[in-house]
Amino acid sequence: MKNYVVKKLIDQKSIEEHVKSVAAQISDYYADKDPIIAIVLKGGFVFAADLIRLLDFPFTIDFVGASSYAGTQSLGDIKFTKDLDKPIVNRHVLLVEDIVDTGLTLYKLIHALKTREPASVNIAAMLVKDIPRPFDLEVAYRGLNIPNEFVVGYGLDYNERHRGLPYIGYVEFPEEK
Ligand code: IMP
Ligand code: MG
Repeated sequence: MKNYVVKKLIDQKSIEEHVKSVAAQISDYYADKDPIIAIVLKGGFVFAADLIRLLDFPFTIDFVGASSYAGTQSLGDIKFTKDLDKPIVNRHVLLVEDIVDTGLTLYKLIHALKTREPASVNIAAMLVKDIPRPFDLEVAYRGLNIPNEFVVGYGLDYNERHRGLPYIGYVEFPEEK
């Protein structure tokens, strides 16, 4: 593997403040809806763990894992690596995701879940990369905007490493500088 260093991008205090503000927005909308909070594997679990501890209303936790096939023609192609445990028909679903990069995975996931006729599906993402997207992906609870860098920590990995970092860093390859 290439040499790299991890440089701090977002510190713990900023993450904490951001999670608090998202929790307040989510509470406004979902307090009387008994939502299914669907954590998108794997990266969404750290953000979700902090978020749900700030929510003082009833909800159910579920997990979903999905991978999208790059290079296929149909935007509908998605493979569930872990499907939701329970039906979502007539339920309010909140997907909790680590990062919106191209947004393709979430785009396909949302479409797949909508065919199951939930009452609503929204996205809460911790981070959103500041890049143009060729399709419309509505992120109801937008995370912090970050530049187009590869980031790790707070659930996010590089080759499965660094998910446990309490801050968010970006990966830098010194030989490419
Ligand atoms: P997408 O391009 O938005 O479909 O991203 C799919 C998934 O790739 C995200 O949910 C993350 O798990 C992962 N990913 C995208 N960008 C990064 C990054 O900068 N660091 C770590 N994982 C990433
Ligand atoms: Mg992810």
